[in-house]
Amino acid sequence: MKVTVVGAGAVGATCADNIARKELCSELVLLDIKEGIAEGKAQDMMQTATLLGFDTKITGSTNDYTKTAGSDVVVITSGLPRKPGMTREELIGVNAGIVKGVCENILKHSPDAIIIVISNPMDTMTYLALKSTGLPKNKIIGMGGTLDSARFKYQLSQHLGCSPSDLNAVVVGGHGDTTMIPLISKATWNSAPVTSFLSKEQQEKIVKDTMVGGATLTALIGTSAWYAPGAAGAALVESILRDEKKLFTCCVSLEGEYGQNDICIGVPVTIGKNGWEKIIDFELNEEEKAAFEKSVAAVRSMNDVLATL
Ligand code: 2OP
Repeated sequence: MKVTVVGAGAVGATCADNIARKELCSELVLLDIKEGIAEGKAQDMMQTATLLGFDTKITGSTNDYTKTAGSDVVVITSGLPRKPGMTREELIGVNAGIVKGVCENILKHSPDAIIIVISNPMDTMTYLALKSTGLPKNKIIGMGGTLDSARFKYQLSQHLGCSPSDLNAVVVGGHGDTTMIPLISKATWNSAPVTSFLSKEQQEKIVKDTMVGGATLTALIGTSAWYAPGAAGAALVESILRDEKKLFTCCVSLEGEYGQNDICIGVPVTIGKNGWEKIIDFELNEEEKAAFEKSVAAVRSMNDVLATL
C-alpha cells in the first residue's frame, strides 16, 4: 500500500508521522512545494524508525508528483493555516488555487486514489476536489467532522471526569466556528445519555468550546493546531487501508441524504476500502435540523465564492 501526504507543514508531517508509526502502508511520500522541507522531515521521521519500530519507508519530494505515482490514498493538507483572529473561510482565495493544482497533479499519477481533504475552508475545498477531479463521490472525503468530534469528546470528558474513549459523540455540519453542530442530545457515556449528567449551563459551554476549539488553539499557539488534525487524517487512512468500516463524521457529497443535494458537508459515514461507504441517518431533531439547514446555507455561500475566483 502507498500513501501520499501533500503539504509537509505541521499538519501534514504529523499525519505522516502517525501513519508511519501505525505502519498503515509500506510506502509513504511526503510532498511539499518548498525546497527541501519534505525531504528533511521525511529523513527525520525515518531516523525514528528503529527507535519506534516501524518499517514504513518514508520519502520526501519537492513538488515532484512522479514520486507519488500509484498512491492508494492521498491526504491534502496544502495551503495557508489560520492566524489568530482569522476564520477558516478567509483562506479561500489562496487555498482554492493551491488545492485545485494539487488535485490535478495527484490525478495524473494516481487516478485511482482516495483523497482526504484537510485544507481549509475544508467543506469548500472538499467540494472543489470533487468537482475538479471528477472522481466518484465515495473517493473524496473531507476530514473536518472527525477532528471536531474528537474535540467534542475531549470537552465532554473534562466535564464528566471520564475517559474520552468511553464516549460516543459526533459533530455534524460544516467545519467552521459557527457552522459545526455538536449533537449533544445524541452523545452517550457508554450507553447513557451525557445530558443526564450535565447541567444546561455545562452542556452549553461544552458545545460552545467545541465549536471554537480550533480558534482557541490558534490564539494560544499563534497558528493552526496540528496534533489532532494530523491524527484525525491518519485515523481515516487507517479505516480505509484496514477496511475497518468505522463510523466517523466526514464531509461528503450529499445526493438527497439529510435533504440536501450538490454540497459536501459533515455527516456520519462509514469509512472502508472504497472510501466513504455509507451515510448514516442520525434522525436529527427539529432544532438540530434547523441548525443543519443554517450550516448548509453558510457552506453553500462559501462554495459560491469559488466561481468568482
Ligand atoms: C483545525 O480546526 C486545522 O481546521 C483545523 O484545527
